[in-house]
Amino acid sequence: MIGRLNHVAIAVRSLEAGVRTYRDTLGAKVSAPLPQPEHGVTVVFVELPNTKIELLEPLGEGSPIAKFLERNADGGIHHVCYEVDDIIAARDRLKAEGARVLGDGEPRIGAHGKPVLFLHPKDFFGTLVELEQA
Ligand code: CO
Repeated sequence: MIGRLNHVAIAVRSLEAGVRTYRDTLGAKVSAPLPQPEHGVTVVFVELPNTKIELLEPLGEGSPIAKFLERNADGGIHHVCYEVDDIIAARDRLKAEGARVLGDGEPRIGAHGKPVLFLHPKDFFGTLVELEQA
């Protein structure tokens, strides 16, 4: 059911430091910062030949990654995102298999303008999983 790895998301305290490291030290192509108030993050996309890395910095009150950064002071891998062809079919299959879909279970529009869902890390070996409709 799952397809390509769309991105790996890394939470950072400072997007500026993250951009410097990925652009200058690692020599990657990095996008301009994109504030996403409805998700409580500012994002930059690191373009790699075969996938993307997203650097997430907390934005506003109650950012979903603020708690993560309290537990992971240096930052860390926050989630992985797999593509699916049909997000509703994927959700229904996962629920039938007993996996927990976060929030109200309805897809929201994610950072790439496509519907996304998040799955409970406890059901996926401690990894927060995002599904994005391809
Ligand atoms: Co993501």
